[in-house]
Amino acid sequence: MTRLSTSTLASLCVLTLTLGVAWAAEHAPNKPAETAPAMRQGMPGMMEHPPMDDMAKKRASGWKAIMHAVAVLTPTEGSTVHGVVHFDQEKDSLRIVAEIQGLTPNQKHGFHIHEFGDLTSTDGSCAGGHYNPQDQPHGMPDAPQHHAGDLGNLQADDQGKAHLELTVTDLTVAGRINPILGRGLVIHAQPDDGSQPTGNAGARLAVGVIGIAHQTMDKPAEKPTDNSTPRK
Ligand code: CU
Ligand code: ZN
Repeated sequence: MTRLSTSTLASLCVLTLTLGVAWAAEHAPNKPAETAPAMRQGMPGMMEHPPMDDMAKKRASGWKAIMHAVAVLTPTEGSTVHGVVHFDQEKDSLRIVAEIQGLTPNQKHGFHIHEFGDLTSTDGSCAGGHYNPQDQPHGMPDAPQHHAGDLGNLQADDQGKAHLELTVTDLTVAGRINPILGRGLVIHAQPDDGSQPTGNAGARLAVGVIGIAHQTMDKPAEKPTDNSTPRK
């Protein structure tokens, strides 16, 4: 338990810092330099934000420019489920394309973005609960109310492979609306049946972290089935 709470806290801290810096850069007032020392003295006991230098501003505003993210899903202990999920920021929506293997043939598997991109536990539990920044009840992605991270189900074919394409409007790669960078992605053993509190989808079979995609790398249009094929 100690391990779980420590890692959970650690990833929370990292995310809070990251998002905080991005927010500060966007909202920092453009004060003339001469007012800065007075502001810095401030009121006794108040938290002070040091002025950001140009480099820090540039870095922080760069978050908005990130349009492509990717998550590589790896199996939890005892599972063989794995795959790749791409996230592409479009003007007013987020396009999600998943290619997954090793699923139970002809079965649905719950598929969600979870709070933490923390893979330290072998059962996926460190990914935390469903990503729910707007404090909604659980639901399917097309329901009026659902966790932002509720992506519904992957439908496996008779080979245990699933291909999912989904476009949602309540998530962004790194924008103001429910940014997903750094969060976790989870595939479950059972179907998400839409019930409260989290869809009754059972154990976690694969987990991944949503990271910044290498922008010059094209998505594999037709995924090679041979695992020995070197990655481009
Ligand atoms: Cu989940
Ligand atoms: Zn949910």
